Amino acid sequence: MNNPASLRAIGLPERTVHLWRLSVAQTRISLDYHLSLLDEEEKFHAARFHFRQDREQSILARASLRSLMARYTGFAPDQIRFKKNQYGKPFLQYPDSPVQFNVTHSGDCIIHAITCGAEIGVDVETVRDSSSLGSISSYFATGEQAWLDATAHETRDDAFFMLWTCKEAYIKALGLGLSKSLDSFEIGIVNNEPKILFDSDEHALAASWQLLLFKPRRNMVGCVAVNTSISAVEFRDYGSGLRWHLSGQ
Ligand SMILES: CC(C)(COP(=O)(O)OP(=O)(O)OC[C@H]1O[C@@H](n2cnc3c(N)ncnc32)[C@H](O)[C@@H]1OP(=O)(O)O)[C@@H](O)C(=O)NCCC(=O)NCCS
Repeated sequence: MNNPASLRAIGLPERTVHLWRLSVAQTRISLDYHLSLLDEEEKFHAARFHFRQDREQSILARASLRSLMARYTGFAPDQIRFKKNQYGKPFLQYPDSPVQFNVTHSGDCIIHAITCGAEIGVDVETVRDSSSLGSISSYFATGEQAWLDATAHETRDDAFFMLWTCKEAYIKALGLGLSKSLDSFEIGIVNNEPKILFDSDEHALAASWQLLLFKPRRNMVGCVAVNTSISAVEFRDYGSGLRWHLSGQ
């Protein structure tokens, strides 16, 4: 088993995103160790989950984030303090650091997206039958609805969840969550890559954003949104130190 306390500090060059993937089922670090890293509020939060699986996922997600922030900032895990903005987005309160992060989970898969000096948001979804979720797309921008309608039936589920993760990653990067209306901005495909075509809210400058798609597992799609130009994305498995690849293998 790894001894996380002995792990090296992690360097994070500018314009780089680190994506850390983890799951309760696959972590090689004991849950007791993770529990010991949590503060009282985090323990209380985890204890509220009725199902063991959800409880364990919450412990692993919070403890791994605390441990990673310690390694990025050079502080001990118990010195790290988190705070949330008014819409629930967590950020580093202590130490004062340019490191920014966002977290997403789907099923047993947890992803931490981390960068330096730029807002960041991440979302992953399991690709499934989207026909029963059609009502959600009625809240999307008109151009997005037209694009989905024009998509061939065989690729509709992939297109729907790609768009979903892009929209979700963007509103999470802004820190607004669903307080931002889903038709206030439009995402389109330009040169085979998702781009924010417009955002009617004045504070957001659509052109400065990058939306990067990734595949955390075979049946999943993910997007990380960053408001800077990113030159490198590194994929790592938490607990094993191994790299994973865009294809999700
Ligand atoms: C809360 C929300 C930010 C993300 O929710 P989600 O997709 O269900 O959950 P994810 O696993 O991707 O992200 C949850 C994590 O995001 C973070 N988060 C919470 N509020 C956030 C906010 N306002 N901005 C950014 N991140 C936030 C937290 O770390 C949270 O982890 P926690 O639940 O352990 O505290 C919000 O956008 C939401 O409720 N979405 C519902 C999904 C939906 O209907 N989307 C419409 C299609 S685009």
